[in-house]
Amino acid sequence: DMAEKGGYPDFMLKEIHEQPRVVRDTLVGRLSPSGEIDIDELGLSLEELNDVDRVYVIACGTSYHAGLIAKNLIEAWARIPCEVEAASEFRYRDPIITPSTLVVAVSQSGETADTLAAIRDARIKGAKVFGITNVVGSPVARESDGVIYTKANKEIAVASTKSFIGQVVSLTLLAMLLGQVKYRLTTNQVRMLFRELGDTAEQIQHIMDTQGPAVHEAALACKDARSALFVGRGMGAAISCEGALKLKEVSYLHAEAYAAGEMKHGPIALIDQGFPVVAIATKSPTYEKTVSNLKECEARGAVIIAIATEGDEEIGKLADHVIWVPKVRDAFSAITATVPLQLLAREVAVLRGCDVDKPRNLAKSVTVE
Ligand code: G6P
Repeated sequence: DMAEKGGYPDFMLKEIHEQPRVVRDTLVGRLSPSGEIDIDELGLSLEELNDVDRVYVIACGTSYHAGLIAKNLIEAWARIPCEVEAASEFRYRDPIITPSTLVVAVSQSGETADTLAAIRDARIKGAKVFGITNVVGSPVARESDGVIYTKANKEIAVASTKSFIGQVVSLTLLAMLLGQVKYRLTTNQVRMLFRELGDTAEQIQHIMDTQGPAVHEAALACKDARSALFVGRGMGAAISCEGALKLKEVSYLHAEAYAAGEMKHGPIALIDQGFPVVAIATKSPTYEKTVSNLKECEARGAVIIAIATEGDEEIGKLADHVIWVPKVRDAFSAITATVPLQLLAREVAVLRGCDVDKPRNLAKSVTVE
């Protein structure tokens, strides 16, 4: 068992540590010598891609959160409206689908029942469907027009970690490709983005090598809480959704993600002495606004755990615990900032004596509706 876990105490930690490799492998061969994003299994011609005027990302669970990240990138780089929807909702609505709609279905297992049903439905309605999955030959791969495989390799822990990173990197490539076919991103911009995307592999490694003690301290602050809030803005709001889900899944603590600016419309009422607030407070265009939301939490007694950018001298005055991540472009912040949240969730679960690899009531793949 220990050998299978590669010397790690559990698969979740082993899989978190595989993430630098997942980033590298997912990028292999994806930039052509002439500077184009190359997804040859796309199943769509560049003309068809150029026609795309609406994107839906459909997925469940963690994969849905990868979609939230992708929305930001697709809209920023390709200027195509993008909606992200739980597959279990999408399939029962009457979404607006035309032949120029691209549906991107994201599923680690490639067999989630709701995601598959949504794919079938979208194709009948005339959409082009592109799958992002970790399992070669899975139903999602077979039933989509085209597919990108995330190179996570088999994921054993029920709570998804390395697959999420593979999904975000794959969706980032797709967003870059859409930006390129829409003539919104130049070859030079794509080359630069691609290089920085590759750099996140080392940055993840650096977080894992240096932030263990900070994660442990932060986990101690959460361990006996009844509930925790995860907050951020923009990319940080999307990242906080994944952080809260991870904590719920493995530690059974109630956790809720909230856009930081919306706190004052409700969730701030929850905060009292010792209430943990995990903030995605990395340097971004909305950093100052997030900091002012955190001050409001601090004034009400919250214990603030900040995921912050190395070199930030302000955040330490406000936060009780800081977990540092390297400076990256905001577009890539999900790849780095998610890692401490995965580590935090696992550490809280371990401290609470939970089985991190096999949380109660959860299944690795959900083939029922
Ligand atoms: C289950 C798993 C989650 C996963 C979700 C979607 O709930 O426990 O980790 O995110 O299914 O799975 P998929 O394979 O479609 O990505």
